[in-house]
Amino acid sequence: MKEIVLAKSAGFCFGVHRAVDTVYERASQKNIYTYGPIIHNEEVVKDLENKGVKSIESVDEISDAPNSTVIIRSHGVSKNVYDEIKHKGCDIVDATCPFVLKIHRIVEEESRQGKQIIIIGNENHPEVEGIMGWSHNKAFVIDSAEKLNNIKLDPDKEIVIVSQTTFNYNKFEELVEIIKEKSYNVSIRNTICNATEERQTEARNIAKKVDAMIVIGGRSSSNTRKLYEICKGECENTFYIQTLDDLELEKLKKADSIGITAGASTPNNIIEEVYTNVREFCRDVS
Ligand code: F3S
Repeated sequence: MKEIVLAKSAGFCFGVHRAVDTVYERASQKNIYTYGPIIHNEEVVKDLENKGVKSIESVDEISDAPNSTVIIRSHGVSKNVYDEIKHKGCDIVDATCPFVLKIHRIVEEESRQGKQIIIIGNENHPEVEGIMGWSHNKAFVIDSAEKLNNIKLDPDKEIVIVSQTTFNYNKFEELVEIIKEKSYNVSIRNTICNATEERQTEARNIAKKVDAMIVIGGRSSSNTRKLYEICKGECENTFYIQTLDDLELEKLKKADSIGITAGASTPNNIIEEVYTNVREFCRDVS
């Protein structure tokens, strides 16, 4: 009998859970918008669309502003975006994850005191764009030693380092070490979220032991991609799928043990569907 290990930390983290629940609770009301897709999961976004919830990229897309509600997703937004929504006269329901809000506060307060902000993260990620938008001066975003070499820091000013919540911990430490070699005046705020670390550690430990590993998550979910890379590093037979439809069960035939994990934006029903089908398949072939 094949062994199937489902990661306990697979799927929604606390912040995403909270944001998705917030939208579903309000989905029956009129003129509900989310600022950007509520999560990186096409299935959930489509389901909400069918319930009348529209995802927007700009406040210009809001047609009946004074009677509309805009829900901010767990990634958070810049101060400018809050102001724009308020200016339009819409209600704001803020589902920004409290851990992301904490970074906004750090960046806002420290930059107000004239300190230089370095965000370790991916500059195109909405969470990072939001964090940048709370800095009173230009915040630098780096995700590699090369990018770090290209930025010009003022040697007389204190540096405050924060991190994108989903950034890889080892890479963060590496970059922090290089910054510390360049300057003495550095304050490090490790704002990587534990949920990500725990999910990554558990995935690595499972991937080490199994013959095949399944990682479930949206194509544009960066944390799922990272999870996939970690698992692939430990287990050659790692498969990245969005839903059960992408899974070629035949490829699991030779595996005696199979691990399953999922990114932070993967709903439980998708995980369960994959788990149940893999279990049935394993029962049938053994
Ligand atoms: Fe929040 Fe951590 Fe999730 S920052 S959105 S609980 S990954």
